[in-house]
Amino acid sequence: MSSSAQTGVVIRAATRDDITVCGQICYDAFSKLNAKHGFPCDFPGPEAATGVLSSMFSSPDFYCVVAENAGRIVGSNCLDERSTIAGVGPITVDPGAQDLGVGRKLMQVVMDRAIARDAAGARLVQAAFHNRSLSLYASLGFDVREPLSCVQGQPRDRNVVGCTVRPAQASDLDACNGLSLRVHGFDRATELAQAIQQNTAKVAERAGRITGYASALAFFGHATAESNQDLQALIASAESFIGPGILVPSRNTALLRWCLANGLHVVQPMTLMSMGLYNEPAGAWLPSILF
Ligand SMILES: CC(C)(COP(=O)(O)OP(=O)(O)OC[C@H]1O[C@@H](n2cnc3c(N)ncnc32)[C@H](O)[C@@H]1OP(=O)(O)O)[C@@H](O)C(=O)NCCC(=O)NCCS
Repeated sequence: MSSSAQTGVVIRAATRDDITVCGQICYDAFSKLNAKHGFPCDFPGPEAATGVLSSMFSSPDFYCVVAENAGRIVGSNCLDERSTIAGVGPITVDPGAQDLGVGRKLMQVVMDRAIARDAAGARLVQAAFHNRSLSLYASLGFDVREPLSCVQGQPRDRNVVGCTVRPAQASDLDACNGLSLRVHGFDRATELAQAIQQNTAKVAERAGRITGYASALAFFGHATAESNQDLQALIASAESFIGPGILVPSRNTALLRWCLANGLHVVQPMTLMSMGLYNEPAGAWLPSILF
């Protein structure tokens, strides 16, 4: 695609028919970018990228768009609308059509959508080694909030003294949502309810009280807790983490050190960026790859 051709790029709502093409583009974009910088791809193969986009394109909770040039799909983007904070991504553009303005159009459309829906803010997680996405998001108004370390491995110690972990149940929702409200200023009730239904959510308890929860110990999961101890118990309870890893805020050095001492290794650096509402979290937390 030539630079003049990108002016003809049209953004439209994604449909299920777009899943296979967009999944391949998503895989190609990340595998090429990450290989160039010496990092493993975020997805093991095109099927994994297709699976993620399939769940988003098929869900009423996500606003998903594709970019088309002369009838050919050249990229896609999604907006998670399950919370008052909208989560952006994954955004990918066909490697042959990058750096020509398609990504900016795909971002602008989802940002307009978040504003139209009165979202309190929008957030995303960016591959820290990627100059282009950092520049694009910063120029669109996203602020850098938190350096993250994506960590993976098998925790050596599977228990943390004084803290028990069990699967979350629907009856835990109020306590978990209240915790999120205290730590972040908003809850992720819909996402957590879905995670409980899917049996991926866990809670940490101390003295019979819920002091932490994780929607999943996974790239696409988030966790919120009163203290590092609660978060450590949640992390330790996992055999491994689905996807590239969990996202540890690197400035929480005590937690990062504990992860490293417990057999986990850093896969790649990432950055949490936000627009609109952002309260410095009043507790311990792990964002998902969306926010
Ligand atoms: C990130 C991605 C979606 C951006 O899409 P794109 O179509 O390539 O980007 P665009 O051309 O719309 O915008 C890039 C902007 O960054 C600017 N830019 C690129 N490199 C830059 C640099 N090193 N310094 C400053 N600005 C830079 C460009 O000039 C352009 O700015 P402009 O819109 O003001 O002209 C695309 O490159 C991609 O798919 N990358 C691989 C997957 C990925 O990283 N996804 C995002 C995960 S966080």
